[in-house]
Amino acid sequence: MWSIVAAAAYPSRVIGRSGKLPWRISLELRLFRELTWGGILVMGRRTWESITSPLPGREIWLLSRQMTEFPHGRIFATPSELVKALANQSKPVFFAGGEMIFRWAIGIPEVQRLYLTWIFIHTEGDTTFPAISEEEWQPYAWEYFYEGCISFTRVEYHRQKQALQ
Ligand SMILES: NC(=O)c1ccc[n+]([C@@H]2O[C@H](COP(=O)([O-])OP(=O)(O)OC[C@H]3O[C@@H](n4cnc5c(N)ncnc54)[C@H](OP(=O)(O)O)[C@@H]3O)[C@@H](O)[C@H]2O)c1
Repeated sequence: MWSIVAAAAYPSRVIGRSGKLPWRISLELRLFRELTWGGILVMGRRTWESITSPLPGREIWLLSRQMTEFPHGRIFATPSELVKALANQSKPVFFAGGEMIFRWAIGIPEVQRLYLTWIFIHTEGDTTFPAISEEEWQPYAWEYFYEGCISFTRVEYHRQKQALQ
């Protein structure tokens, strides 16, 4: 199964600021870890630079035109090479950001799940999650959480089959 996993401010869809997450919510990070454990995380070079160390229990596959070597996982210079290599994998695949990766992944037909955590917070940012079509992405399950004074909801969306024209 190929999925997107993201957290975005509601309703602005902000996901990042100055190369980092605009919030620090340890429970949300734990949910991310539990969901993605044992899988492949596909991320862009800038997101990798914000993490800088390998994440236990997961493989990292990086997309970058600039970097040619990546000792912590696999690296690809083009989306098509990466998708081709993913097709031979049996592990669950998670497209994990940032904005450029989300905008690409939302258009990949094999991506059938979207785990989007809406964070009810007003925040400035420079990167956003793309707007999603409510007809195409339907909420299947959701759960509410809070940490301190921040509340958030994790929604699992399923991609609907397109109506035949
Ligand atoms: N809230 C969340 O769920 C979440 C998750 C992840 C990240 N983030 C945030 O998102 C922000 C980063 O997002 P971003 O959009 O600036 O960067 P990004 O998507 O993480 O990485 C962009 C880089 O990926 C590579 N890339 C993208 N498209 C490519 C293509 N078609 N071919 C080859 N390489 C390609 C390029 O690397 P090169 O420049 O090396 O060629 C590009 O500069 C940060 O603030 C981060 O904290 C938020």
